[in-house]
Amino acid sequence: MPTDEPIARASDTGAMLAAVTDRMGNMHRAQVHRDPWPDFASFAIADYEEPLRRAAAVQWAGRARAEHGSIQQFAQLAHVLSEVRAPLHWYGALGRLITDEVRHAELCAEMAHACWPEGRAREPAVFAWPRPRTPWPLPPDPSDEAAAWRWAAEAIAVACCIGETLSRPMLEAIAVVATDPIAEASARQILRDEHLHATFGWEAMADITPRLGDDDRAAVHERIARALGGFQASTACGIEVADVAGKSIEIVRGAPNLGTLADEQYAMIFYATLEAEILPQLDALGLDGSRAWAERG
Ligand SMILES: [Fe+2]
Ligand SMILES: [Fe+2]
Repeated sequence: MPTDEPIARASDTGAMLAAVTDRMGNMHRAQVHRDPWPDFASFAIADYEEPLRRAAAVQWAGRARAEHGSIQQFAQLAHVLSEVRAPLHWYGALGRLITDEVRHAELCAEMAHACWPEGRAREPAVFAWPRPRTPWPLPPDPSDEAAAWRWAAEAIAVACCIGETLSRPMLEAIAVVATDPIAEASARQILRDEHLHATFGWEAMADITPRLGDDDRAAVHERIARALGGFQASTACGIEVADVAGKSIEIVRGAPNLGTLADEQYAMIFYATLEAEILPQLDALGLDGSRAWAERG
């Protein structure tokens, strides 16, 4: 909500939806809000039992933190790409990615707050807003242009080619199972953007990869292998590929759902997307996705 109260900083309050001035809010909304912005104030809180709302707040708050992490990652990538003077068109595309991630973080944070408003006082840890951490080291000194391009290739492969390609089917599933109209609208707004983010990654990698030397290519491969292990740990919920082999997944609308998936659904979407999209596209770039998966960290 816009307010003229003194500005509270997220770092001071831990709030994922810290208040801002009216003017700042207007600038933000003009750039980031899409029509129709979900009416979070009209969330039908009385229609849902508290355990269901709490479980949804946990997942939406986790998504808000992940989306905030994407803002940090793409902002850092934009900085490095400007150092190596990537084509101007790349910044236009990447600028869109950054504003999209701001929108996603806000949608997810609003959903978390709407689902479980009483939880903010009861379990503030659910709504924690820690400093995001990139899943890669700090960029090298940009005077070493080859090292900076290698760093950019690693970041794009991890965040866009793997992360964003996984996002789309996850959001698709969330939009299908969500019975609440505001939860579904939030998922669909995010879903509309994610395929573009993956496309940015695959297009950029198709440009960069042929220019990488053998050592750089080996480093990118190693980073991808490590990232695949990281995504498996964070997305497959401890479920191994052998546990779901031969099983089929059912994503259907049924019981009241505020935009949550079960562990097994997350895991099966993860493995299916890996097999059908991510590993073949890495192979097509000459980055040997199957070997990276076998060597995952
Ligand atoms: Fe996102
Ligand atoms: Fe994204």
